[in-house]
Amino acid sequence: MSQAHRQLKLGTMIHGVGHGWGEWRHADALPNASTNFAYYKDQAQIAEAAKFDFAFIADSLHIHAKSSPHYLNRFEPLTILSALAATTERIGLVATVTVSYSEPFQVARQFASLDHISGGRAGWNVVTSWLSGTADNFGRAEHPPHATRYRIAREHVDVVQGLWDSWEDDAFAYDKQNGEFFSPHKLHTLGHKGEFFSVKGPLNIARSRQGQPPIFQAGTSDAGRDFAAQTADGIFATPESFEQAHEYYQDLKTRAARHGRDPAKLAILPGIRPIVGRDAAEVEARYQQAVDLVSIEDAIVALGRPFNDHDFSQYELDAPFPDLGDLGNNSQQGGSQRIKQQARDEGLTLRQVALRFARPRRDFVGTPEQVADAVQHWFEDGAADGFIILPLLPDGLANFTDLVVPVLQERGLFRKEYQGVTLREHLGLEVPVNRNTLVSEGLAAAG
Ligand SMILES: Cc1cc2nc3c(=O)[nH]c(=O)nc-3n(C[C@H](O)[C@H](O)[C@H](O)COP(=O)(O)O)c2cc1C
Repeated sequence: MSQAHRQLKLGTMIHGVGHGWGEWRHADALPNASTNFAYYKDQAQIAEAAKFDFAFIADSLHIHAKSSPHYLNRFEPLTILSALAATTERIGLVATVTVSYSEPFQVARQFASLDHISGGRAGWNVVTSWLSGTADNFGRAEHPPHATRYRIAREHVDVVQGLWDSWEDDAFAYDKQNGEFFSPHKLHTLGHKGEFFSVKGPLNIARSRQGQPPIFQAGTSDAGRDFAAQTADGIFATPESFEQAHEYYQDLKTRAARHGRDPAKLAILPGIRPIVGRDAAEVEARYQQAVDLVSIEDAIVALGRPFNDHDFSQYELDAPFPDLGDLGNNSQQGGSQRIKQQARDEGLTLRQVALRFARPRRDFVGTPEQVADAVQHWFEDGAADGFIILPLLPDGLANFTDLVVPVLQERGLFRKEYQGVTLREHLGLEVPVNRNTLVSEGLAAAG
């Protein structure tokens, strides 16, 4: 696609009471937003009215008393997205499901079902789970190590995608006359036996409208980046600057090409937290509201997260950031290494690191034109193919769609109307031909 026609891809995370520990206390916040269907429906419809590519529901499977409010009390992603499929028509519906604590057969079936229910709008965000306590909820003696988790991920996704091709597209003949419900030669048994999974198949649901729902991923570490570049159609990241985003973008595109993929088919979508005001005073007032929601106590708890919920309250706040050795390498490896590196390079105290990590950054804070300028800069100068909005403040999504999206549309950077129906169509991805159809056609051609 020529540069002139390249369009932004936009998604939003719908994340109930928010990422942080204090957002639920905002005067306008709904404290029960994370389990409030009306809230989710409203957010999805706001994103759809703005012609967003997709709404995304994140997930994890282990909590304790110090987990953030949203983690403590939230919907299971595929359940809420099935409900949203019925209250929306065009927007893509992307759910996190972990490969470390699920069976490929179940996952293939769930996403195929969501794809059927939604008319081809399902997408899977593949995660490997970084919280070791998850093992305790699944009867496992131990949480798999980081490198093993990515080996599991490769095999898991491979099996799911194989199962999605169990039935050729026209396998269900529904021929009442001849009593042929399906064509037996269009049903294929996977017969997978691998290092982690043994799955015979076939899947008990027809191939869905997208054939293969798109894959999303957010690898940051070396192993994670390689897996994302090889497998994903959409990649999430949380770079802290244009330079970091640019490095990540170039690296992922290079890795994708090395895996024989067309880099243009892989959308890199940094997560951003825009705060928009009609003038400078409103921008500052809204930014200050967001800053006020982050106490130092909460920031210290939040900092523990990429380190497997490490307890940072045991260290002196104004002393140099503690030496943590390898801590974090088996949880959010990429993110935790970045924090340790920054603390070392800049000689920061624990307080400085915690506040930097928890407070909103300034990159996408401004008037509608300023935020649109930043979006355009990242998009046109090699740092992003689009963005996933991680809304801050209770009206954060509407604030962005009302004020910034029209500017992006006027600049020709974002669609004014949906051209397609399915998530693949929004993302500019073709439906892959069923691997078994390819084989059948090859055999037929060979005679
Ligand atoms: C926008 C975004 C959304 C994410 N959503 C989830 C999620 O729902 N569940 C999860 O366990 N991890 C989620 N992650 C984290 C990644 O899956 C991954 O664990 C993290 O980036 C660390 O990568 P690494 O294992 O390569 O170090 C998300 C990351 C980003 C940037």
